[in-house]
Amino acid sequence: MTKKVFIKTWGCQMNAYDSDKMSDIIAPLGYSATNKMSEADLVIFNTCHIREKATEKLFSELGRFHKNQLERAKRGEKTLIAVAGCVAQAIGPEIQRRAPYVDMVFGPQTYQYLPEMIARISRGNGSILNTEFPEEIKFDRLAETSSSGISAFLAIQEGCDKFCSYCVVPYTRGTEYSRSISAIAKEANRLVELGAREITLLGQNVNAYHGEDESGNIRGLDYLISRLSEIIDLKRICYMTSHPNDMTDEIILAHKNNPKLMPFLHLPVQSGADRILATMNRKHSADDYRKIIDKLRAARPDIALSSDFIVGFPGETTFDFKATLRLISDVGFAQAYSFKYSRRPGTPASAMSRQIGEELKEERLQELQALIRQQQDAFNHSSVGKTMPVLFENKGRNGGQIRGRTPYMQSAHAKASPDLIGQEVMVKITATKTNSLEGEVV
Ligand code: 5AD
Ligand code: SF4
Repeated sequence: MTKKVFIKTWGCQMNAYDSDKMSDIIAPLGYSATNKMSEADLVIFNTCHIREKATEKLFSELGRFHKNQLERAKRGEKTLIAVAGCVAQAIGPEIQRRAPYVDMVFGPQTYQYLPEMIARISRGNGSILNTEFPEEIKFDRLAETSSSGISAFLAIQEGCDKFCSYCVVPYTRGTEYSRSISAIAKEANRLVELGAREITLLGQNVNAYHGEDESGNIRGLDYLISRLSEIIDLKRICYMTSHPNDMTDEIILAHKNNPKLMPFLHLPVQSGADRILATMNRKHSADDYRKIIDKLRAARPDIALSSDFIVGFPGETTFDFKATLRLISDVGFAQAYSFKYSRRPGTPASAMSRQIGEELKEERLQELQALIRQQQDAFNHSSVGKTMPVLFENKGRNGGQIRGRTPYMQSAHAKASPDLIGQEVMVKITATKTNSLEGEVV
């Protein structure tokens, strides 16, 4: 019998990847995806714990879905509700207490057991909480990838040993683990067979990748990228998210020498003030970051840079904040993500004195985002008049248009035949819109 699963995903690309894997792993049980809550026999919330808001959202969504569960029960239909991901890992028992109608709560390291968990629940054996870090490697047990877009994600590394003082990731995703070169190559080949032309290698600390090759040697990200670029139909390789301290000369050199490696790098710096970087436990200074950027630009002058920033970290003075703005001005970003510091229970920073008030955080965020917006606009405007390869991924919003991305990860639209989807085509950029470019196929 066919059943429907509704998966709602919050947070990072790793969560999006995990959601796809969950979908693949339950497909043999007869589940196909739906985006209609009312017809879902199984609902999975794949959650993010990185900032507070996501947790609040989870509980309000759970309430909504509980109502739907009751409605369906009146019609004699059973609805299983599962909470997965980092919130499940961090506050599993609280979820069970506050939402007793949730059937399964499991963390990011245990979703490979989803078929067994569903079987147990279906036998009526109460609710399940599974937030262990099992010995068995999750990736070894995952189902084979069943579908792929033109642009695909591939998790190569998971977890983090850095313990930045504000961050929950080392607690929710566990310690760093790198998949083997052969497992990654196999999945990459499969994705390309299924139509992928661009692969983004994912990891919480992706540039710390150190996986075993076929001869048992430990290899870095630069080697992995060079191996994957041997796949003929794979046109583009990207990776995220990186830590400045793992940005080796070899990876920088790959940006110079490997034409399949895109000239785009997401390299979070978080703050431009050394004092704050120290209390964040980042183990690098603002100037260390500037030096890495200089090296990257020497290797690949057109590289487009992206970053993450946190404003209002405990103890952040106006002087510190200005140092962050200065760093942004010095570097020049093509885009960036910025967040108000969010106090996460159990992290060292949440216990620090001199927490910053909400209003001041908001003010700083606005100022920082205005500067980033200016830089992003300037970067996009500098593309106008240039001709560059665009990898087309899908149809655009307006009829007759197709949408793809430039090598710098900007979205670009052009009036062209959908037959070009999946191909890298030279496009002359003619205009910029708020969040994308427009161009003509040349
Ligand atoms: N508060 C605000 N932002 C945070 N991030 C991680 N933890 C927190 C927190 N407690 C941000 C960092 C990280 C990105 C994924 O989320 O900038 O790079
Ligand atoms: Fe969190 Fe820092 Fe690890 Fe990134 S490097 S996941 S911010 S602890």
